[in-house]
This record gives sequence, C-alpha cells and structure tokens, in this order.
Amino acid sequence: MRLNDCHNVQDFRKLAKRRLPGPIFNYIDGGADDEITLRRNTDSFARCDLVPNILRGVEKVDLSTTVMGQDLALPVYLSPTALQRLFHHQGERATAAAAERFGTMFGVSSLGTVSMEELARKHSTPQVYQFYFHKDRGLNTAMMAAAKTSGIKVMMLTVDSITGGNRERDLRTGFSIPFRLNAAGLAQFAMKPAWGLNYLRHEKFSLPQLDAHIDMKGDSLTIGRYFTEMLDPSMNWDDVAQMVAEWGGPFCLKGVMSVEDAIRAADIGCAGIVLSNHGGRQLDGSRSGFDQLDEIVQAVGDRLDVMIDGGIQRGTHVLKALALGAKAVGLGRAYLFPLAAAGQPGIERMLTKMRDEITRDMRMMGCTRVDQLTRDMLRFR
Ligand code: LAC
Repeated sequence: MRLNDCHNVQDFRKLAKRRLPGPIFNYIDGGADDEITLRRNTDSFARCDLVPNILRGVEKVDLSTTVMGQDLALPVYLSPTALQRLFHHQGERATAAAAERFGTMFGVSSLGTVSMEELARKHSTPQVYQFYFHKDRGLNTAMMAAAKTSGIKVMMLTVDSITGGNRERDLRTGFSIPFRLNAAGLAQFAMKPAWGLNYLRHEKFSLPQLDAHIDMKGDSLTIGRYFTEMLDPSMNWDDVAQMVAEWGGPFCLKGVMSVEDAIRAADIGCAGIVLSNHGGRQLDGSRSGFDQLDEIVQAVGDRLDVMIDGGIQRGTHVLKALALGAKAVGLGRAYLFPLAAAGQPGIERMLTKMRDEITRDMRMMGCTRVDQLTRDMLRFR
C-alpha cells in the first residue's frame, strides 16, 4: 500500500498503522474507556440525510469562509494536536506548510514538538495557539506572552482536559512523554525499524512550548497523568474571563458542549467555541459535537462563531455541520494519519481529497457558497 492508494481517512489510517510503532499508532487512534464516544463521533453524522437541490448553475464553487476574523479558503482547518514529530519527523512543520498551501488555519499545541515562534515566522496562514491551563501560573503567563510576541492571532483554550481521560491503550503500551527511545522502548519499537532509524536521524524530541518551564527529566508521564498532574483543576470562568481580557484578540474555547456554557463563553467575550469531546479521548459516553451543534447555534450563533471537531472523515460530514451553522470544521486524526503515513505530501493528498469531496458534494447539493448550506437541507432520521 502506497500514498497513491489512499483515497480516504481509513486508507491513510491503514498506511499509518503499517509505518508506526504500536504504542504511537495506538496513542493517536485510541480513545477513553470503551471508546464509545470515539466511534459515535463519526456515526452521529449518519443521523441525518442531505436533501439536495437541483438545476442551480454550479460550475463555480467557492469554499471560503471567515471564522473568528480569519479568512480561510476552505471550511476545514487542522486542529491543534500534540507530539507531531513522533508521528513523522516533519511533524508540525508539515502540518503548517500543508495548511498554508491550502489557505487554511492550523493549530499549534502546548504539547507541540516545534516552537510556535518558528511556525509563525515561516507561515502567514492563520495560526491558533492551543493553550493548556497549567497549575504553574508563571508558565501560563509566559505562554500567553510568547504567543503574543510570535504574532499569533487566535488563542484557543482547551477546556475539556481538566483531568486525564482513561486511555487504556496507553496504559497497556506504556506510551508516555517525554518520549525516549531507551532499551526497553527499542524492543517495543524493533518491529518498525524504519520508523526507529528515521526517528534517531532527526532532531531530538522536545516540547519547545514547555521546555523552559517544566523539568520533565527523569519523570515520564502518560498523557492522562500529564493532564492530571500538570493542569489546574481549579480553573474556572473567572480565570478564563481574565485570560480573554488579557489576550485582547480572538479567543476561543475548545471543548464546550452545553448551551449554558456556550452562552457564558459569549458573555465573557469569546470570539468562538469549538464543540468537541477531544476526539473521544476524555469523557467516554459524552455527546458528539455534531449532536450538540443545532441547539448551540440556535442559542449563540449570532454572538460568536461555532465550530465543531470529532470524527470528520468525509466531505458530506463537513456539509452537514455547515448546514447546521458551523463556521468551520476541525480535523484531527484525519490529518495525523496522513502525516504519519507520508509527512507533508500525505497531509496535502488528504486535503486535496477533502477539497474535491466538499466541492463535488456542494455541486450535488446545488450550492456554490458555503453560506447557501442551510438547516432545511437536512432531515434527521
Ligand atoms: C491528547 C492531547 C495531548 O488528546 O490533546 O492526547
């Protein structure tokens, strides 16, 4: 199987699985507890059907959208995700370059393996900085300041990770950070020598957003333990209102799921919210972003931009979300598998396929602009 054989997210997943050592593949692929929410994220798009319109003159299709003041050529963006240089040595550099080529937004994670400064310097495409609120308030202040001096426009605070999700695949494999290829690790990784050689030949693993502040030498944490031990469970609406004011630019909460919280986010001046269950990696049994979309757009759609992520694999999934009023849709595993499979060309192939699917589906829906997709084009089963 080669990159040219990949036509959809499942194909990229298969190729990524072949290339990656088990612990790393399972870190990306897995979810919390019984992985019910993980599966439901994609399944929930099948709850409704598209009702197309015909004979609308659809030769020119414009996929552009504006979200939190950022102009995007596509209604999909690459959500912030952690540890990308473990998946492919190009890591966040590939993600940022591919996003720029397609004129869309990408996120850089607090747990990113390339510095936000470098990515902001090299790429002019909209970038969001994904923020984890740490117990160490000094670290929080320093990260906000670093994001600001880097010229990053949008701050995206993750609010669904107040404690670590129960990711049993990671418990079984021992996947942890900081990542080290030690003797025991080498044995686990011996099955994928090509990955190992490639990893050893490139820049050492690091977490540039955190390295200056957190000394993780000696200790090794699963991501679940990282959340539980490093992030501040006392974080509340007052802390976030203060951050929004301090940031002074577009501020977004990722992981809002209730109407009540969406209203509060608007009240404290957020420019956007992402309805998200963290890819099914945190609270298993929680609802999908897509399932919450309609009621939240009804409540706050005129006050802030609503986005969703989780389980998006198809152009039709994107169309259904846009029809319910999402301004843009975030991709996670959908670009991490292509990254792991083939680096930047992998992500670019996925984005080409996704752009083609959305364009084709828009034409078949009788739409030439994303704002022509409306709620009455959906029927729920
Ligand atoms: C995860 C974090 C790091 O889900 O976003 O693994």
